[in-house]
Amino acid sequence: MKDYYSINQPKLLLPPKTIFISLIILSLIFLTFLFLQSHNSLQKPISDNPTAIKGIKIRPGYTSYETYIHHQLKKTTNPKLRKIWTSRDWGRKIQVFQRFFTRLKREKLIFNSSKALCVGARVGQEVEALKRVGLTDSVGLDLVPYPPNVIKGDFHYQPFDNETFDFEFSNVFDHALYPDKFVGEIQRTLKAGGVCVLHVAVSRRSDKYSANDLFSVEPLKKLFDGSELVKVRKVDGFGLDTEVVFRKRKFGV
Ligand SMILES: *[C@@H]1O[C@H](CO)[C@@H](O)[C@H](O)[C@H]1NC(C)=O
Ligand SMILES: *[C@@H]1O[C@H](CO)[C@@H](O)[C@H](O)[C@H]1NC(C)=O
Repeated sequence: MKDYYSINQPKLLLPPKTIFISLIILSLIFLTFLFLQSHNSLQKPISDNPTAIKGIKIRPGYTSYETYIHHQLKKTTNPKLRKIWTSRDWGRKIQVFQRFFTRLKREKLIFNSSKALCVGARVGQEVEALKRVGLTDSVGLDLVPYPPNVIKGDFHYQPFDNETFDFEFSNVFDHALYPDKFVGEIQRTLKAGGVCVLHVAVSRRSDKYSANDLFSVEPLKKLFDGSELVKVRKVDGFGLDTEVVFRKRKFGV
């Protein structure tokens, strides 16, 4: 044992010069890391509360909130896409949405008298569908308005008072740069006992305008901290595969 030590120990020690150089290199790496971190947080936008939510991956590359909005607007204002949405897609999508909403009515989750909001509604086929199944008091919200069904607004900062709606629907959760704000605003503007239905993609990736990727419904349960999970089921909703239903609690968040 003793021999082993005396023979091998010196070999384990690096020459002082090597140690010194290694330390310098390590420090440089560390300083670079620190610099990148602080640089990043300088460029990071608005969130007063940049939450890392387990199970949701925020896509990198948005250097400011303006960059993000600009990117989202690129899709929403794309004339070719808007043409498709309002012509070829129009009737087909309304029909599919009508089926989803008719089922929710049958399950007594929504009623003709429900005041409804569609979050991130683009040209508002879902708003039209709600109206057709009997929810006449329905409106959509998006960065670009599409009168009369869709009014202008940012889903991270909904332009509505607390406790305004009985029902909120969205299939654009993946477009939220701040999933906590997206959900927080829905919970704020829902009445107590109000219902939120999200269509999300959990097992496939959505489009290049997505700002986050979701890998299960667990993070949604965490985000909807003032609500009860009512149900989760598979749907076939324009590339989105899962319907998640929450109900805002009657008392306290
Ligand atoms: C709800 O509205 C639909 C569509 O307008 C109508 O057919 C239905 O009778 C209404 N249901 C109730 C309970 O009023
Ligand atoms: C609206 O709701 C938010 C969040 O729940 C709360 O912080 C705020 O005080 C409420 N505002 C009013 C006017 O009640």
